[in-house]
Amino acid sequence: MEILDLRHFASHDLRPVLEEEVEVWQRLLQWDYQASAEMILRYADSRILPGYAAIERGRVHGYCFFVYEGSKGVIGDLYVLDSGATRGRRREIALELLNHAISTLQQSPGIHRVEAQLLVHPADELSEPFLRAGFHRYQRQFLSLPLDAAYHPPQRPLEPGIDMHRWTEADYQPAAHVITAAYANHVDSNVNDQYRTISGSLRFLNNIVRFPGCGVFDASSSFVAMHRPSNTRAGLLLCSRVSHDVGHITQLCTLPEYRRSGIGEHLLRDCCADLVARRFSAVTLTVTEENQRALAFYLRLGFKPMHIFDGYVWEG
Ligand SMILES: CC(C)(COP(=O)(O)OP(=O)(O)OC[C@H]1O[C@@H](n2cnc3c(N)ncnc32)[C@H](O)[C@@H]1OP(=O)(O)O)[C@@H](O)C(=O)NCCC(=O)NCCS
Repeated sequence: MEILDLRHFASHDLRPVLEEEVEVWQRLLQWDYQASAEMILRYADSRILPGYAAIERGRVHGYCFFVYEGSKGVIGDLYVLDSGATRGRRREIALELLNHAISTLQQSPGIHRVEAQLLVHPADELSEPFLRAGFHRYQRQFLSLPLDAAYHPPQRPLEPGIDMHRWTEADYQPAAHVITAAYANHVDSNVNDQYRTISGSLRFLNNIVRFPGCGVFDASSSFVAMHRPSNTRAGLLLCSRVSHDVGHITQLCTLPEYRRSGIGEHLLRDCCADLVARRFSAVTLTVTEENQRALAFYLRLGFKPMHIFDGYVWEG
């Protein structure tokens, strides 16, 4: 097996790998990865996607790509075929691809941080090259809440002065302030450093709300909690559509001073009520295991663990 620059290969070379990967995302995470796969194939045809391909007898058996975002490198995806020629060697090929991607990113001039979230790969499976290269590992859970069960309204009413509205464009800028304040000194701002600053949170929002990378943003099931007397946004929930009947919560946070008064639960219930009314079958989200309170909160509300994966961060 040879590891070669991904930019030598076009969409027809990569298509069989991505077709299998689309099936895995659907089976494991209820996630329709087709649009992301098409985007990767378009980039491949433009020969602008940095990464590596595993090649044997002229055929691509696996790939790994990364992107540069300022001084940060992000490993976007990694997949190795689970059939034919790769049988028994899948992990070995994946590790080899990762070794190449990690050393290229760490040696890229001006890159001070590298992040990777390998969603479809079970926790620990591919940790070796990351840990050897000095990455910190954050175990993360993928949770799913079936929406076929009867809808239960929140047990506690909202405090006077707090009300909910559906996401509008006017929430965009203030939401960046809510995210930055909600994640100050929080483990998730180590996993995703965008949360640390207003400009980073705006970039996060831009990726979620305007780009169809993490599903398609769904304004109808995304809500904002407003404290009317002070005209303050106290919390928010963002949801995207990741398959025809599955929503994925990409963000849920409450300002520290408004926590433990039921806002988080109301945001979740309002989101679920909207999805139920539109006949969605499930809503999913990811949570860092170290974020014990949030994990316990989701489990209490009926979310079920589906899959455990790793997030990796290197700060040079
Ligand atoms: C997780 C988070 C969104 C919860 O938001 P919240 O508005 O505090 O949520 P709620 O008030 O509905 O519930 C939180 C807890 O307060 C309790 N609570 C709710 N109303 C209460 C009240 N009136 N009095 C006392 N406790 C109350 C709930 O029972 C719940 O307890 P639990 O954690 O043991 O389940 C919030 O802690 C947060 O923003 N954290 C930082 C960002 C984050 O971790 N987001 C999740 C990433 S996956």
